Amino acid sequence: MKKTNWWKNAVFYQIYPRSFQDTNNDGIGDLPGITQRLDYLAFLGVEALWLSPVYASPNDDNGYDISDYQKIGSEYGSMQDMDELIAKAQEKNIKIIMDLVVNHTSDEHPWFQAALAGPENPYHDFYVWRKGIDGQVPNELLSNFGGSAWSYVPALDEYYLHLHSKKQPDLNWENPKMRQAIYQMMNFWLAKGIGGFRLDVIDLIGKEPDQLITKNGPKLHELLQEMNQATFGNYDVVTVGETWGATPEIAQLYSDEQREELSMVFQFEHINLDKQAGQRKWDLKALEPQELHAVFSKWQTELAGKGWNSLFWNNHDLPRIISRWGNDQEYRELSGKMLAIYLHFMQGTPYIYQGEEIGMINYPVTDIAEVDDIESRRMYAERSAAGYSKEEMLTSINAKGRDNARHPMQWNDGPNAGFSQGTPWLPVGDSSEINVDAALADKHSLFYTYKRLIELRKKETTIIDGDYQVIETNNPLVLAYQRQLGSDKILVVVNFSKEVQSYQFIENPQIKAWLITNYQEQLTNQLQPYEAFALKIL
Ligand code: GLC
Ligand code: CA
Repeated sequence: MKKTNWWKNAVFYQIYPRSFQDTNNDGIGDLPGITQRLDYLAFLGVEALWLSPVYASPNDDNGYDISDYQKIGSEYGSMQDMDELIAKAQEKNIKIIMDLVVNHTSDEHPWFQAALAGPENPYHDFYVWRKGIDGQVPNELLSNFGGSAWSYVPALDEYYLHLHSKKQPDLNWENPKMRQAIYQMMNFWLAKGIGGFRLDVIDLIGKEPDQLITKNGPKLHELLQEMNQATFGNYDVVTVGETWGATPEIAQLYSDEQREELSMVFQFEHINLDKQAGQRKWDLKALEPQELHAVFSKWQTELAGKGWNSLFWNNHDLPRIISRWGNDQEYRELSGKMLAIYLHFMQGTPYIYQGEEIGMINYPVTDIAEVDDIESRRMYAERSAAGYSKEEMLTSINAKGRDNARHPMQWNDGPNAGFSQGTPWLPVGDSSEINVDAALADKHSLFYTYKRLIELRKKETTIIDGDYQVIETNNPLVLAYQRQLGSDKILVVVNFSKEVQSYQFIENPQIKAWLITNYQEQLTNQLQPYEAFALKIL
């Protein structure tokens, strides 16, 4: 199979299907809703859609707890709807990327149900079981959602491992039969003509629970090489691993083409910059733009020629970027454009999360009863017990809670923002100004900045293949870098603040052409609030 690496100059778009477009008015987005919106996505210019899980699931963790990998969840539609989406998307040169959740299943998956019959059942060993110690859990491993990672099954007098909720038992990747079953399932999807997989928490599959190792276990890369050979290595598809524990060195192991593992990974170093060191994401700290620039620059430099970056601000687990590091009040669109311009000239594959292209913002709550997300609710329960105040916990949830990105897509300024004519599963934000129709009607909207950035990535090979170099500006809030391929040079400069900033280059650039700006095409030694531009220079 010839590998074209088509994903190197494509821009991807993540859809959270539950919140994208509802067509049968049950308040839940569905597959026909995505098919209906393909023209919009094609107009934006994206070439691949990563769908968060749409498989059968009891939805303890909104689909990341799968009870049947080869069945579409009834709330999303049918396998026929899926086939139709793949085919219709293909007609528009858009590929469908499936979310592959194989670190764990739902406890309602038939494998786990069979496993509960006991050690004689062949499916028992599909999961990770241990005996307790003196009537206590086997060890101190914790779930990512808080509390012990072990749950007790009295009938078996054994504990099973779950690094997420107790309805998400971890699969046992030591078991070759289990691995073959997963590979068969992956081949079922590949044969349908999908464009690839996003691999959920994939850095956990090499875990050694007895050694208290969860991320980056010793067999992780061996397992991925085996998976590659048995499945996607035989197709011209993309694979992107979710790897919270990746450093640049580790990301090279995953994404060095010679090693035949994955196309790229999502790394989260920049995402961790606004939490207190050593604490959880809920323990807030202000972002230092210089630190952000240092982290991005490190990843740009260290993966150059040795791997491939993914570039993202948002996903379904993160707050909206404009509310987080931009300004969701008077500079909403300007700061959104600055963030987009800063990211989209880097090397790697950019991912846009639904609603990011129209500048959707966080959805603050005033009571925990308004929250759906299991992670936020678990934190609230734990921290309430530990004596935190309601205000403190809600401040954290409003800043970092996963629901912020999960409120429905805002298509127009009508009822429920055009998402549904029923009652949406999660309330819709204020769409009087922020909606797709308004964005499309205004040639200067954030939407057209994204559209232009996607076009530029198709045209300018320097963005794909050029070197990366930090440019000094003599001001920590003015971030700049240069991309260069042969004699072709692109300079990117952004004001990462809401104040006017002065700055100074060591050597003044000679302008060849303006590629994009969110103000006027004019170069002075001052930048307006959130001003950002990219130039071709001599
Ligand atoms: C990933 C998903 C997240 C989910 C978790 C468990 O981090 O992005 O939404 O809760 O894995 O599957
Ligand atoms: Ca629906």
